[in-house]
Amino acid sequence: MYIKKITLTDFRNYENQEIVFDKNLNIIYGNNAQGKTNILEAIFLVAMGKSFRAKKDKELIKFGKNLAKVEVEYQTIDRDGKITAIIEDKKNFFINGVKQNKISDIIGKINVVIFTPNDIDIIKEGPDVRRRFLDMMISSLKPNYIHILNNYNKTLEQRNTYLRQIKYENKPKKMLDIWDESLSNLAEQVYKYRENYVNKIAIKIKDIHKMITKSGKVDEDISIKYISNCKDKNIFLENLKKARELDVSRGFTSLGIHRDDLIIYINNMPVKVFGSQGQQRTSVLSLKLTELNIVKEEIGESPILLLDDFMSELDNNRRQSFLEKIDGNQVIITCTDKIENTNSYFVESGVCKKE
Ligand SMILES: Nc1ncnc2c1ncn2[C@@H]1O[C@H](COP(=O)(O)OP(=O)(O)OP(=O)(O)O)[C@@H](O)[C@H]1O
Ligand SMILES: [Mg+2]
Repeated sequence: MYIKKITLTDFRNYENQEIVFDKNLNIIYGNNAQGKTNILEAIFLVAMGKSFRAKKDKELIKFGKNLAKVEVEYQTIDRDGKITAIIEDKKNFFINGVKQNKISDIIGKINVVIFTPNDIDIIKEGPDVRRRFLDMMISSLKPNYIHILNNYNKTLEQRNTYLRQIKYENKPKKMLDIWDESLSNLAEQVYKYRENYVNKIAIKIKDIHKMITKSGKVDEDISIKYISNCKDKNIFLENLKKARELDVSRGFTSLGIHRDDLIIYINNMPVKVFGSQGQQRTSVLSLKLTELNIVKEEIGESPILLLDDFMSELDNNRRQSFLEKIDGNQVIITCTDKIENTNSYFVESGVCKKE
């Protein structure tokens, strides 16, 4: 699949911008802070229903304006279409001009896989970043997952509120049974999705990682483990009951799929703890390439690749083996230096010009 054209209106530092993309490689270059990543952010917004970096949607609206609009025309194997995002006090999405009621209705119309310099956080930071990575990937493939996850989070919030009511208002503990039951039902469903996709990742990542690291002297064996305390619904329920006193005193739920984690090992050692900087970078690259591979397999065509600041991230060898692996996709790359003989766009102060 590919994006034919994007139109930005009062989005970030763009006022009125139209960009026509090539089916294959597109290089967006320019100095820092000119608006390169903003273009990738706009594409991601119509693909996934939200920004990959803004905390609040309002940040996307051009300073001093009230409304931002992004419109993308796309082509897949069997259909073409137009997705529009309008951000004002609320965020609305339209497919071919028809307003969509739920954000999940637009997810998966176009599939993107994004690589950003912050991906390294998947390795380096806390479990929440790894869960987000996994959740994003599953959501883009299984929109129903979003509903289940949202329901889980709502139920969790309600259980936490009730825990505090027990503590401060002496409400009966027995009522927690109801929350525990619905929490464990939803946790079980989330667990199944996550387990399924972690298994897929765990299998595929081995070969991909070998490919990327093949020039090294020592073989690197990568493995991934999914850590969850919701593997079995009944055991989870029992453990929730055991943790009740603790949960009441803390005012939040200490067990559940909101505590899940992924551990990535190289040669059986957690790469987060023992990996060198380069090994951490390579592991995350393998992980993202695995995501790409899985998305491609599941949707039956190549997703669009968004590579933010990609060239600065890799040495020449790794860049080369990377580009070999992504052959066949539409690729949109941002970087600071011009690359000769490629389809390029120059960005300066919120204006993007095709060269
Ligand atoms: N809501 C907004 N309204 C107007 N300008 C904005 C808004 N949000 C961000 N900007 C501007 O957009 C610019 C940053 O854009 P972007 O992140 O795309 O830069 P970049 O070209 O990718 O830079 P780098 O090479 O440093 O990554 C900054 O100049 C910032 O002030
Ligand atoms: Mg940038």
